[in-house]
Amino acid sequence: MRPMLTDKRNRPLRDLRISVTDQCNLRCRYCMPKEIFDDHFPFLGQDQLLTFDEIVQIVHACRTTADLKKLRITGGEPLLRKNLPDLIGRLRRETKIDDIAMTTNGILLPKKAHVLKEAGLSRVSVSLDSLNNSRFQAITGRTLKVEHVLNGIKAAEDAGLPVKINMVVKKGMNEEDILPMVEQFKGTGVIVRFIEYMDVGNANGWKLDHVITKAEIVEMINAVHPLEEAPANTPGETASRYQFKDGSGEIGVISSVSDAFCAACNRARLTADGQFITCLFASKGHDLKAVLRNEGESIDSAIARIWTGRKDQYSEDRLKQTADRKKVEMHRVGG
Ligand code: GTP
Ligand code: 5AD
Ligand code: SF4
Ligand code: SF4
Repeated sequence: MRPMLTDKRNRPLRDLRISVTDQCNLRCRYCMPKEIFDDHFPFLGQDQLLTFDEIVQIVHACRTTADLKKLRITGGEPLLRKNLPDLIGRLRRETKIDDIAMTTNGILLPKKAHVLKEAGLSRVSVSLDSLNNSRFQAITGRTLKVEHVLNGIKAAEDAGLPVKINMVVKKGMNEEDILPMVEQFKGTGVIVRFIEYMDVGNANGWKLDHVITKAEIVEMINAVHPLEEAPANTPGETASRYQFKDGSGEIGVISSVSDAFCAACNRARLTADGQFITCLFASKGHDLKAVLRNEGESIDSAIARIWTGRKDQYSEDRLKQTADRKKVEMHRVGG
């Protein structure tokens, strides 16, 4: 048997997150502020995107060189990519990976959930930061309503897709939404995950004082709905899990800032134009589109070379960083 591919900290490659577009129909302030991401922003052109054939080849190569177990389709907003169910169907059939998740803002799920499920999608994580319309619109920079996202969540559930909610928590933005979000979904089977606001990219003007920590979030919820810690479902999971003591389900907290989880990080990211990124906070990626389109190194050997050289642990080192570092923006790296 092949020895398992690991990086410099002995971490395997288990999870590949594939961004299929850098565009989005929302303009969340902490991700794509509309002053920067306006009509003049140079989004990727159709000819720069990896084709579905190329995406399948890369996944296949990760599967054969590493112990890849999970795919996550991301964006921007992945449901803006044309013919996405075809890609999901191909990934399912041709790579045999049986956990294919998607991170979406949910707006287009009422139209697409059913066909995505039929194509082989396993589950969805829907981003939703507030249940209050005026805060939702201030955060997302558009005039769509919370109801549109709730309809998307309902459509996913009706299609048989398990749903998680991703709520980014930022001081002064939405801390008053934490308890309403818990109460909206407690007992429904939908798992809400609170994400500490992170310094992804350079466009969002992140400051440490904007972060509400895992400990603060858990304390706030536990005071009203008693919680107990639960063990991780899989090695290297992003979220710390907590169960409601009354048996009505669980929440998760993703604590990249106050309690980094780099030690077991088994995630790689692929941008829509084929950059292979070994950390969410990387300055740049490795151009796998060039490897595929040029003669020379094989894609298997490129992936093995990149992963065995990986040392990333940005969140562990975040507070030691001195110089401002240029980082890939969230709408390209997909979360
Ligand atoms: P599950 O498979 O359901 O556990 O989901 P996941 O945690 O792999 O994926 P999801 O995209 O739902 O992750 C939620 C959020 O956690 C992401 O949008 C990011 O904001 C953050 N996140 C995910 N992976 C990493 C990581 O490797 N490092 C850091 N710092 N944050 C991450
Ligand atoms: N900090 C934390 N989470 C973020 N996301 C986007 N930008 C940030 C940030 N700066 C989340 C989105 C979505 C996922 C892709 O990542 O809300 O759920
Ligand atoms: Fe779009 Fe998600 Fe970024 Fe919001 S966080 S702008 S929904 S990609
Ligand atoms: Fe992985 Fe980088 Fe996130 Fe650490 S900061 S968990 S190495 S993606």
